[in-house]
Amino acid sequence: CGIIGYIGEKDVQQVLTAGLSKLEYRGYDSAGIAVHHGDAVQVNKSKGRLDELHHQLEPSPFSTRMGIGHTRWATHGPPSDQNSHPHTDAGNEFAIVHNGIIENYLEIKRDLAEIGYTFSSETDSEVISHLFHYLYEGNMTETIQKVVERLKGAYALGIVSKHEPDRLYAVREASPLIIGAGEEEALISSDIPAVLEHTRDIYILEDGEMAVLTKNDITLLQTKTGQPLNREIFRVDWNVEQAEKNGYDHFMLKEIHEQPEALKKTLAGRVDQATKRVQFEELQWSLERVEQWDKITIIACGTAYHAGLIGKHVIEELTRTPVDVEVASEFRYRRPIIDEKTLVIVISQSGETADTLAALRQSQHLGANVLAITNVVGSSIAREADEVILTMAGPEIAVASTKAYTTQVLVFYLLGIYLADLKQKITKDYRIQLLEAVLDIPNKMEELLEYSEALQRYSESIKDASSVFFIGRSLDHAVVLEGSLKLKEISYIHSEAYAAGELKHGTLALIEEGTPIIALITQKEVNEKMLGNIKEVKARGGHVLGVSMKENMEMLEYVDEGCYIPDSLSLVTPLLTVIPLQLISYYTSLALGNDVDKPRNLAKSVTVE
Ligand code: G6P
Repeated sequence: CGIIGYIGEKDVQQVLTAGLSKLEYRGYDSAGIAVHHGDAVQVNKSKGRLDELHHQLEPSPFSTRMGIGHTRWATHGPPSDQNSHPHTDAGNEFAIVHNGIIENYLEIKRDLAEIGYTFSSETDSEVISHLFHYLYEGNMTETIQKVVERLKGAYALGIVSKHEPDRLYAVREASPLIIGAGEEEALISSDIPAVLEHTRDIYILEDGEMAVLTKNDITLLQTKTGQPLNREIFRVDWNVEQAEKNGYDHFMLKEIHEQPEALKKTLAGRVDQATKRVQFEELQWSLERVEQWDKITIIACGTAYHAGLIGKHVIEELTRTPVDVEVASEFRYRRPIIDEKTLVIVISQSGETADTLAALRQSQHLGANVLAITNVVGSSIAREADEVILTMAGPEIAVASTKAYTTQVLVFYLLGIYLADLKQKITKDYRIQLLEAVLDIPNKMEELLEYSEALQRYSESIKDASSVFFIGRSLDHAVVLEGSLKLKEISYIHSEAYAAGELKHGTLALIEEGTPIIALITQKEVNEKMLGNIKEVKARGGHVLGVSMKENMEMLEYVDEGCYIPDSLSLVTPLLTVIPLQLISYYTSLALGNDVDKPRNLAKSVTVE
């Protein structure tokens, strides 16, 4: 979910709805706002996209100077008008917007119901507005303290009260929240882009902190004690246009095309041209320190997990250190074997994914050193990790991740080379050869991006398929997992990715006349084996698109259609082969008329467990 709040002289409704449109990537199944005008708090909310809400809104009354807004991604209770935020008490004295999950809401709901409170939604959040009503005795900061004392779970809250026309309140525990400090105005938001139109001066609220905002003043307090806090302003130096579509039809297409640039930015300053070495200023690692770690555990969700699979391959190959890769939501619910001899690497584009954050905390608790690879400065994961490597992808808006993935993969190449060099596991010649291959990737990507027409045609041909299969071996297998996820999430076509050698153990039974199969064939040592697997599916009627390097022309004898990536070292091909796979999912989704940037049922940043 995304929350926004505003106090100042501008048209509040306009500021809130514009802010929400920037937060829609966090969820978009319902939206709402609450504004304070004179003597009452007025709520408008509706199921569906922000446009639905727009239709409902009358021009805001002149007296309105403050309000809060919310865009929802349903967790407790399906999308509906009633379940939309803001939530209020019966008399509309308090309105709240909430991002997170209140774990003990049933218990609170029962207690409040016993003393006569009635509820109009199925959400966990609604208990909060009633708690405000129940606990308010004239002082809002004290009420906030009393309310949060009752709450267990995660919450970022924006609060307005009928009794306080000049004050907007915010409180945070385990869900992101930032405060924007403008000229005669102040804002709260789940994320920075939503406030950039108004200000570049930001305070990042931490867990256990609250904020009191007036038009001219922002006070940060420790929630529990009410102790005032001194916090430095963080000045944002990227601009609003970076978050806009820039002439492309969709954010996803724009972000696919931004990859060469994103990779260059991620590389900048990290390769010393004179010594031909990788340098990470953010890692003050000595050989002694690195040798303390006898294994590495990579933890992430979704696309970031797929980047981790490449990371495992690269680090093991170059450093011979054992690497496990785990999905965060699995890792945290078993007894992981992690201790001070483990280097844990968490990967997260947003830096806010709840399961990944919890896995980070658990790993630290078990004594591990945690390195985060993330795209968002100041995110929870960036702040809590022991070390952080930032991917410099810039804001990624489309739900389907593209440039965040390739920059994460790039970081693993750099990290693998860096560790191998430190541990003297690779020769100087090989290091230089690897670095040259990596540095050359952005240009080769540009080249690849020029040939999207053929892929658009291919996408038209698979758009009516009931299933699409992706196959590959070794590193290609890690890439097809990502290709298949991409296709599923935005085209809604069922697809599966298989290690090609596994086909004969079951999946082959699903191949019929005309079944589309996308095969990656870039790993030289298993080239023959892959061609054998392609014959297996062809013999059952499968229609194969082969993706390989230009030098592997003999592939054409085996496949129905070919797509070539520029010749490259086998180890770095994932950064190239993923491009046609991203484009195929984009064009398939487009051909089907789907909402490419906002696929159904999904959200960009999943801050619930
Ligand atoms: C959501 C997004 C995915 C993303 C995953 C992990 O499910 O839709 O695209 O890969 O979360 O997000 P993170 O921000 O931690 O990389």
